[in-house]
Amino acid sequence: MELPVLSEETVSFAFERSKEMLEMLVDFKELRMMYTCAIKEVKTKFEVLDTEFKVRYRRNPISDIESRLKSNQSILEKMERRHIPFSLENVEKNINDIAGIRVICSYIDDIYLLADALSAQDDIKILEVKDYIKNPKPNGYRSYHMIVSVPVFFAENRRNMKVEVQIRTIAMDFWASLEHQMKYKKEIPDQGEISARLQHCANGIAAIDQEMLALREKIEAAEDKPTEEDILVEKLMKIDVPLY
Ligand code: GTP
Ligand code: MG
Repeated sequence: MELPVLSEETVSFAFERSKEMLEMLVDFKELRMMYTCAIKEVKTKFEVLDTEFKVRYRRNPISDIESRLKSNQSILEKMERRHIPFSLENVEKNINDIAGIRVICSYIDDIYLLADALSAQDDIKILEVKDYIKNPKPNGYRSYHMIVSVPVFFAENRRNMKVEVQIRTIAMDFWASLEHQMKYKKEIPDQGEISARLQHCANGIAAIDQEMLALREKIEAAEDKPTEEDILVEKLMKIDVPLY
């Protein structure tokens, strides 16, 4: 097979292009590293709040914390869907959920407690809030979403990074996880009926969440009010035990 003869110009152009692409790849990997660090920062903030609550009150508000870095493919697909030309600046500016944290709580009031505590931290900037608990999506989806900006300190600079925070109860998470799985099962007949039944489940779950909170509040109200001394002794005992 005869190889085509490439002019010096073509070779140098191809070399420059591949160098540019390689540089972009390195920058992109670095950006992903920064988002991973932003996840760590926000995750730690929630863990601190949970630990504090364990000492201050009698329970943990957080049942679980999940986190994920959006895959390259999902980032590219989202950019394409929105007809945004690919560049690192555009990715950072337009995609708010590259770093994602999901906080799963036991009770609905914990969601607002945690959201307020995070918002009150002076290094955190709240860029957007979507309260799908007060305003559920038409399909029944419930969750509290925030896009926050958090400063991350690197060796030579400080970067404000965006993180998507989703806070929901165990019950809301149960519904969202199953509904998400079902979304990928296409070509099912009776879509209308399925949607209606899913929404029915979401409403049932919301009612149970309300009932569980009401039960907890009733039990708390019935408990003997501890004296100041009791509170101090209990705090002391909790601080003495390992917190992990
Ligand atoms: P995306 O482009 O999907 O990120 O949506 P958005 O920018 O309009 O943000 P929104 O706050 O509405 O949703 C963000 C995320 O919430 C999604 O990526 C899902 O993780 C979750 N979510 C939103 N709606 C639903 C839903 O109907 N069902 C489930 N299971 N999850 C949802
Ligand atoms: Mg998303």
